[in-house]
Amino acid sequence: MILPQLQELKEIEDKARTELAAVSDEEALESWRIAHLGRRSRLNIILRGLASLPIEERRQVGAAANRLRLELEEMLSQRQAQLREATVTAVVERGRLDVTLPGRPLAIGRLHPVTQALRDILAAFVSMGFQVFEGPEVEWDHYNFEAVRIPKDHPARDMWDTLWIDYVRNDEYPMLLRTHTSPMQIRVMEQMQPPVRIVSPGKCYRHEATDPTHEWMHTQVEGLAVDENISMADLKGTLYEFARRLFGRERRVRFRCDYFPFVEPGADMSIDCPLCDGQGCRACGNSGWIEILGAGMVHPEVLANVGYDAERYTGFAFGLGVERVAMLRHGIEDIRLFYANDLRFLEQF
Ligand code: PHE
Repeated sequence: MILPQLQELKEIEDKARTELAAVSDEEALESWRIAHLGRRSRLNIILRGLASLPIEERRQVGAAANRLRLELEEMLSQRQAQLREATVTAVVERGRLDVTLPGRPLAIGRLHPVTQALRDILAAFVSMGFQVFEGPEVEWDHYNFEAVRIPKDHPARDMWDTLWIDYVRNDEYPMLLRTHTSPMQIRVMEQMQPPVRIVSPGKCYRHEATDPTHEWMHTQVEGLAVDENISMADLKGTLYEFARRLFGRERRVRFRCDYFPFVEPGADMSIDCPLCDGQGCRACGNSGWIEILGAGMVHPEVLANVGYDAERYTGFAFGLGVERVAMLRHGIEDIRLFYANDLRFLEQF
């Protein structure tokens, strides 16, 4: 006859096995341990009851109970290890990087078309021996107008409709946003003695309505050369060379008389329209020519204003519109596109 305790041990084992199969986390495993190996488990009750059994039964039941205890402990530690490994795998899996995924393309910035044109313009003049100087955009009336021979009530002030700086309004020393880079001629000459060969890039501001060829802000490059024996031929030679470098050998260049109070004689320079090759199109107003700069021989009074000896020295100056150059290079028909910050436009350059 089989002992009832042995029968019970068999049941305990079966139940423990079935329940362990359903354990899926460490918390459930701990409940399982308490139920089957804990102090109040059926197995422990049997083990504690051994002492009161007759010797022969004690041997049989004791051996079986201890074997089962070892077996259950072994099952427990195995399952514990499995669960731990599963947890680690899950954590690793969650944070996994798939290094074979194709990368997301980075949006790469680039230089604004006006900046590109400006750099090329400066490079052309630097290679001809000009130095680059920069100056303030907020300027004194004195430098912007007075010192370049545009006194208070001079009609030429109409050519540079001005944005005045109101909050420092001082009728004696008015300030403004410079309307051109020509004040840099004065600032440079105040600081150095001839020979002078400089270019000065920067933003200028005008109080005017915008249209396809006018913006209230635009970029100019001022040029100035002062030395003994500088003549109109130097001016033309320098600007010819500049036009060829920027627009190519085949471009033609045209000078015409123009008026600016700070030069005498004054001129403007046009190139034959690169868009229609001089045939006449919308961009050049059907004339075949596009004006890109104003220039002239520095007025002796301007030289005298900075204390130069106007008998000994002569000079030429020019002022060039950078947006105009960028428009010609790329066939852009509206200057306002440059500063509308539309990426669809800007990404093309
Ligand atoms: N400052 C003039 C303008 O803004 C251009 C210029 C510069 C003309 C130098 C002659 C000499 O239109």
